[in-house]
Parts: sequence; C-alpha cells; structure tokens
Amino acid sequence: MPAGDSFYIATPIFYVNDVPHIGHAYTEVAADVLARWHRQSGDDTWLLTGTDEHGQKILRTAVANGVTPKEWADKLVNSAWKPLLETINIANDDFIRTTDERHEYGVKLFLEKLYDAGFIYQGEFEGHYCVGCEEYKQPGDLIEGTGEYAGQQVCAIHSKPVEVLKETNYFFRMSDFEQRLLDLYETNPNFIQPESVRNEVIQFVKQGLRDLSISRSSFDWGIQIPWDDKHVVYVWFEALLNYITAIGYGVDNEQFNRRWPATQLVGKDIARFHAVIWPAMLMAADLPVPTRVFGHGWLLVGGEKMSKSKLTGIAPSDITDTFGVDAFRYYFMSAINFGQDGSFSWEDLSARYQAELANGFGNLASRVIAMINRYYDGVVPGPAAYSDADVHVQLVVADAVTEADAAMQRLAIHEALAAIWTIVDELNGYITLQEPWVLAKKDETRERLGTVLYTAAEGLRSLAVLLSPVIPDATTKLWAALGIDGDLSDQTITDAGIWGRLIAGTQMGTLEALFPRIEQP
Ligand code: MSP
Repeated sequence: MPAGDSFYIATPIFYVNDVPHIGHAYTEVAADVLARWHRQSGDDTWLLTGTDEHGQKILRTAVANGVTPKEWADKLVNSAWKPLLETINIANDDFIRTTDERHEYGVKLFLEKLYDAGFIYQGEFEGHYCVGCEEYKQPGDLIEGTGEYAGQQVCAIHSKPVEVLKETNYFFRMSDFEQRLLDLYETNPNFIQPESVRNEVIQFVKQGLRDLSISRSSFDWGIQIPWDDKHVVYVWFEALLNYITAIGYGVDNEQFNRRWPATQLVGKDIARFHAVIWPAMLMAADLPVPTRVFGHGWLLVGGEKMSKSKLTGIAPSDITDTFGVDAFRYYFMSAINFGQDGSFSWEDLSARYQAELANGFGNLASRVIAMINRYYDGVVPGPAAYSDADVHVQLVVADAVTEADAAMQRLAIHEALAAIWTIVDELNGYITLQEPWVLAKKDETRERLGTVLYTAAEGLRSLAVLLSPVIPDATTKLWAALGIDGDLSDQTITDAGIWGRLIAGTQMGTLEALFPRIEQP
C-alpha cells in the first residue's frame, strides 16, 4: 500500500455485561499492531473500538444488579473497558459507545433510508432466541442440554436454553441480497478471510437467506424505530452500524469519505454477522462494503474457547502485572497464527518470554549497548570496510523489512514477527562468530571491532523501528539508549532497512534489562 493511503481498522464493539478477558484483549492488540504499523508507514490511519451497550443481555445484567442499564454500562465502560486500553497499550483514535448520541442519530437515519427504499416491512416473527448470543437460532443450531437442562434444547455456544419468541417485528429484506453477496465473495476473494471462515460463510449463504427480524417490542433498552416508538432496533443490526456512525455517517461526509470502507477484525464466531448481514445492510443503503472482514481464531484454555460464562476467563492484568504489557502483546501476536485458534498456557508464555524476549532480543540489545559503552565510551564507532558477514546482516535486515511489510498487508501478523525475528537471530549469531570481546583485546583489531559494533547497533536500530508497533515500551527504551535524534514514532517503518541511518559519533545512553528475569511464584 503506497504511503498516504487511508487505512481504517475497526474491532468489534464489546458487550458490557461483563469485564474484559484476554480473548477480547487479543482482538484489540491485533488491531492496534496493524494500526501502528500502517500509521508508521505513513498511511492515513484510524483505529476504532468501543462498546455494545443495548439489548437484553445488558438489560438483564443491570436488573440483576439493581441498577439501570445505562448506569451499568457507564460503570463497566469507565471501570473496565476503557482501562483495558491502558492495560494493553492501545493507541485507538476513537471509542464509540452505542449509547452515544451520534450513534443513535446515525442508526435512525440509516433505518429511515432503508424504510423509504422499501427494504423494511412489518411481519409476524416466531423463533428461538439465545440472549447470550443475542441471536435467533435455527433448529440446526441447537443441541440437547445436559445436567440441569437435560431434556431441553440449548444453544450450542452457551449451553443454556433458548427462549421462544412470538412478536410482530420489522423485517429487513436480507433475502434480496443473497445473489449479490455470493457475487461479492466470488469477485473479491479477499473480502472474507481466512479461507476457512470464507468457506463457512459461503456455505451458509448458499443454503438460502431469510429476511431478518430487526426490531423487538417486549423491552425498551435500545434505539427506537423512528416511525414506531413501540419497537427498539435489534441489537446486532444497530451495533453493526457503529462502524459508520463513528466516522460521521450522515453528518460529516468529508470524514466519512476519508475513512470508509474499513478493514474489520472480528472473532470467527461473529464473522457471519459481519460478512453477511453487514454487507447486505450496506448494499441496501447504497454504501460500499468493508474492505475485508477477517475472522480470527479463538484463544483456548484447556482445549475450550476461553469465556467468562464458562469460568475460564483470564483477566489481561493477570498477565501484564507479571510479564508486562509488551510481553502480553508480543506473546499473543507471535505464538498464535493469526486466523487460527491458539491455546494459551502460562508455561508457554513463560518459556517464550524467557527464550525470545529476554534471551533473544533483550539480551542482544543490552550486550551491544554495553559493549559500545565499555569499548567506546558510548560513542557509536564508524564502520570501516564491510566483510561478507557484515553485508549478510544488511541483506537480512533489508529482506526482513520487505517480508514483514508484505505479511502485515495480508494481516499475517505472526509471519511479520517471524520475519523480523530473523534479524534477532542473525545478530545473535553474528556477535557469537565475530567475538567483539576478543577483537577488543588488541589494537590491530580495533577498526574491525568498530565495524562489528556499528553493524550490530545499526541492526538494533532497524529492530527498534520494526518492533515498535508490537512492543512499544521496550522499543522506546531501546531508542532512547541508541541516542538517535527524533522520536521513534516518526521513523518510517518501510525505511527501517535502509542501511546507515545510525550516525557514527552518536552518543548512546545505557540500557536497563528490557525483559528482566521473572521470579516464578
Ligand atoms: N457485541 C458483539 C460484537 C458486536 S460488533 C458490531 C460481541 N461482543 S463480545 O464482547 O461478546 O465479543 C467481542 C469479540 O471478542 C468477538 O470478536 C469475539 O470473537 C471475541 N472473543 C470472545 N472470546 C474470545 C476468545 N476466547 N478468543 C478470541 N476472541 C474471543 O460479540
């Protein structure tokens, strides 16, 4: 993507019925890493996240806690969801709440538009509803309950009984869009990623789309249907609109046209909403569909999707308090193939922290900077003639930048990190072979020592830039220790491999351990 392009990326908006766990944080970190990468490549970047606050699930939680739904939502947003962004260092450009006035305004405008165009009609609805999913279930989605629900049909995701609903509702003519959606998937194969999610969605649509019930009249915690105040909008229909109401839909055309369409990251469990209902809604309103919908995998704990309702939820701060924010971000982005499920375990986190962050990267940075301090009083030496080994380092760095950027463009974050890590491995091997501590013993090898340490430090400079979207705190410390003029955030990522940016004579600082040893409890 050439510099200056628009890159709008959005996370799903999170239900405020409960506090965040590491599954939610996972989506946030992935979106933030991609946003930081693009921002630092010069793209016109916008990262949106937020909270989904209407619907029966939130209403029931609030009632159970003896407060109004708005009071409940305010409490959770301020005490849990906004603080999460600090805990895991998310640099979002906006935070939308579905209780924001701007959202309500945009939702009503959108509905009027679809109503006037004849895409909404009134009808009788009868079906099964799972409040946990906030979704109507088809008989095939239900399974036989066990334990206290034995003999009943339950939701396969929440293992709880569904509720039978019979109401007069408004419907969205989703069935009109079946063929247009199939054409979209066909002509734009990257619209839904990865392949496994794409196939599942295509399969689903090929079975035939029904019209979608988009209003509820049995409770009022939602946005009113503009022409019928006895109904509120179905929470999913309303929530999906956040991606456009947040960027000025119907209010600020300049901002809207500058940002839309978006790259949308979602968990694979909600890919269908985003790859079927959402583009159909946009088509009905004559708006462009998202650039792509990427369904990432689940974090598994003990082999099951981690979830609060099944009591396997782990709070992000449980990890960051011990290992730090950068380790959290790095671990989930490197250990799990983005797009596939990944098992979380404390042992794996601990082992990777030690091997990759502490010994692999942190130690490399400390050693190189300590040697320049010891042998050159912290003043970066100039390189003399480059040997084959030095040139090899330069090539590895240049290739890593190209590969990492290509991987990030296709949202393969783990591959980008693997490409960047070739520099860490190369530099560690280089130092072992070049033995600067031996070169430092004789005057005759002083020039060679300077070249070796310059090469290693220049490699560290590129690493600091390339890793800054993933581990912003550690790379900021490293950048300060390298003593280079200018902020790290102003360094263009795609130029990180241009050799020779570190200027001989630069005064370095010192560097504390970036990833200190962690005492196991
Ligand atoms: N509110 C809806 C989304 C509306 S978007 C218009 C919702 N909220 S959620 O809070 O239940 O989930 C938000 C995201 O967290 C989803 O993308 C979901 O896939 C993700 N995760 C929840 N548990 C997860 C894991 N165990 N692992 C990875 N992601 C998980 O759905």
